[in-house]
Amino acid sequence: MDRVKVRICLGTACFVQGGADLLLFEDFLAPELLEKCDIEASPCLNQCRIGNGIAPYVEINGIIHDNVDQDKLIKLLQEAVNAGN
Ligand code: FES
Repeated sequence: MDRVKVRICLGTACFVQGGADLLLFEDFLAPELLEKCDIEASPCLNQCRIGNGIAPYVEINGIIHDNVDQDKLIKLLQEAVNAGN
């Protein structure tokens, strides 16, 4: 199974609207989930500029998700991991 590719936007708009909380992923993601994901911080994903939703944004396997908080990130990653099984 391929690992889930995750990019957490750390541009200014995302960072101040909750992206900073998402960077604590090692504290709130279960180890079983962490080991199946490659998570990195990203420069601005350009979604804030085109107004496509609400920051913070996270890209998961190439798909952009908006308004992501810690609970939503857990849910999205669980779904992505399950989809890869
Ligand atoms: S700052 Fe996150 S999409 Fe621009």
